[in-house]
Amino acid sequence: MKYDTEVIHGHHSNKEANRAVVPPVYLSTTYAQPGLGEYQPYMYIRGGNPTRAALEALVAGLEGAQYAFAFSSGMAAITAVFNLLSAGDRVLLNNNVYGGTFRYVSHIFKHHSLAYQLVDTFNDLDFESLSPDVKAIFIETPSNPLLQVTDIRKAAEQAHKQGIKVIVDNTFMTSYFQKPLGLGADIVVYSATKYYAGHSDILAGLVVVNDEALAEQFHFFQKTLGNVLSPQDSYMLQRSIKTLALRMERHEKNAQAVHAYLTAHPGVATIFYPTVHDEERRIQEAQSTGNGAVLSLILAEDRDPARFIAALRLFDLAVSLGSVESLVCHPATMTHESFPLELQKKVGIAENLIRLSIGIEDSGDLIADLEQALAAAKI
Ligand SMILES: Cc1ncc(COP(=O)(O)O)c(C=O)c1O
Repeated sequence: MKYDTEVIHGHHSNKEANRAVVPPVYLSTTYAQPGLGEYQPYMYIRGGNPTRAALEALVAGLEGAQYAFAFSSGMAAITAVFNLLSAGDRVLLNNNVYGGTFRYVSHIFKHHSLAYQLVDTFNDLDFESLSPDVKAIFIETPSNPLLQVTDIRKAAEQAHKQGIKVIVDNTFMTSYFQKPLGLGADIVVYSATKYYAGHSDILAGLVVVNDEALAEQFHFFQKTLGNVLSPQDSYMLQRSIKTLALRMERHEKNAQAVHAYLTAHPGVATIFYPTVHDEERRIQEAQSTGNGAVLSLILAEDRDPARFIAALRLFDLAVSLGSVESLVCHPATMTHESFPLELQKKVGIAENLIRLSIGIEDSGDLIADLEQALAAAKI
């Protein structure tokens, strides 16, 4: 089955029951058991729920994976992944990761005797020289907000030689454009709040794995940490996924048009997008079928960023990304404020960096809006 078909027909729980064309929502928190010692698969909502299971089966199919797990947010999924670590372990992360992930490792790790380290790039990291306490690498590719690309296959090959697990945050790409497990990653995490959900109305996270032992751990974490996705949101996410392929295609097309327009505009000094640097573009082309629809930029010196943002009419000033509507945000104060100022400067999250999430509106309208805002920003 092709991806576009699988998003519609990939998994439909209980179709046999009443031949309903959309899957039912099971709200029950508990399930009657046939008898003492004769327990059926569903007992209590935290351990398992048919609506959540249907979503998880659908996502696993789309990812080309054995197992998927739905969590109450992207951060809940990431927290679950970090629960695999033991005291004394160290994790390496690329230096511009989502601010919430950084907030977690920089505030919570120390309470569990865990260590983290930011790396400029995994692409030319010498894995052989890493200290033996490095047990995992956490790759966000393309990264947030600088859209840096990491070669997943190369990093996974080298990490595995050292017995290091590879975690990929695939939020910006989704399985429509990139399937990290097929490139050698051990664990894929998502903020499904973004493209998977796509309408700014569901908070959700996903973890995807092939390994059975890891799958058992994540099931245990769902049951034990209690950070699961609700039945209603599990249903809503299945509904969103039906248009994932269509949406991603349109997001990508619009982003290409906006990227081309901004690249040629004298009011834009720098653009951050996976295709900007030759080496990263080659990696992106080899491991993904698209570049996604988030791009960051720095305006030319003769444009005022605050005026530009204020003048935009179709781009709301809001955190988040990956939804049908276009958004603009200021990473330094809105999504990456957990990075100390010095660190922001060091990694390149500049005070004048602006991030755009390109929606699925008419690309001509988006470009016209950017044009008038760039004109209004002229000093
Ligand atoms: C790349 C990335 N990963 C993880 C998260 C966290 O996800 P959530 O907001 O669903 O908890 C975000 C949220 O912005 C994100 O952009």
